[in-house]
Amino acid sequence: MNRNIIVFGATGKTGQLICKELELNNLSYSVFVREESTNKIENSTVNIKTGNVLNAKDVQLAFDNESFSDVVIALGSKDLKGAGIRAVGTKNILDALNSSQSNSHIHAISALGVGKSWAQLNWFGKLISNLLIKSTMNDHNEQEKHLMSNALPYHILRPVGLKDGASKGEVHVQNEGFLPSNAIQRADVAKFLVNSLLENKTGVSGICQKK
Ligand SMILES: NC(=O)c1ccc[n+]([C@@H]2O[C@H](COP(=O)([O-])OP(=O)(O)OC[C@H]3O[C@@H](n4cnc5c(N)ncnc54)[C@H](OP(=O)(O)O)[C@@H]3O)[C@@H](O)[C@H]2O)c1
Repeated sequence: MNRNIIVFGATGKTGQLICKELELNNLSYSVFVREESTNKIENSTVNIKTGNVLNAKDVQLAFDNESFSDVVIALGSKDLKGAGIRAVGTKNILDALNSSQSNSHIHAISALGVGKSWAQLNWFGKLISNLLIKSTMNDHNEQEKHLMSNALPYHILRPVGLKDGASKGEVHVQNEGFLPSNAIQRADVAKFLVNSLLENKTGVSGICQKK
């Protein structure tokens, strides 16, 4: 199958690693990036579409003259109060795909604790999610609702705490009960996402580092 991929959040910590992983697999891809962040794209051959994901018209333009087999969503924000980047961005992407009658497969990074995976958090994880990152979790919850209520195929990754640095190896997938680790390298999330994309994986994957 010929792949034509677009990555949202390509300049982020995980997004950059996803792009590297796509390159390692010789997959061609485009990125959707804010004008002021285009300097963060190191690969000079990649197709850059500029815009703000919160602006529905910008997102629509990215899909107007090109169709994509796969859409990767690695959107996020350092702002803990958030601006709905994940939910509004994802909705704008879905609306644009639907209006261009695209059948793209979506691969999105959410977080463990979202939706039914709330039960997979221990008391400390629930405390952090309720006190420190409540708006982020709400944003991911809304994001997942948009993905799940849409007809397009999706794979939602729900990682535990993300860590920087080199790959540590295999990823553990578990959608019920407590996970064996509360951390995972972003590099391994990126590898898992691209491998899952190549396998056309659908559904939800709660993931952590394999012990
Ligand atoms: N941190 C954790 O422990 C943890 C755990 C589980 C799940 N997660 C989730 O994992 C995801 C990825 O995290 P990360 O740390 O890799 O993210 P990140 O480094 O904060 O990257 C966020 C990306 O979103 C882009 N973005 C933000 N606002 C945008 C806008 N208005 N228009 C277009 N692009 C925009 C950023 O672009 P710019 O370069 O222009 O800013 C950047 O590329 C997040 O959704 C996060 O909630 C995190």
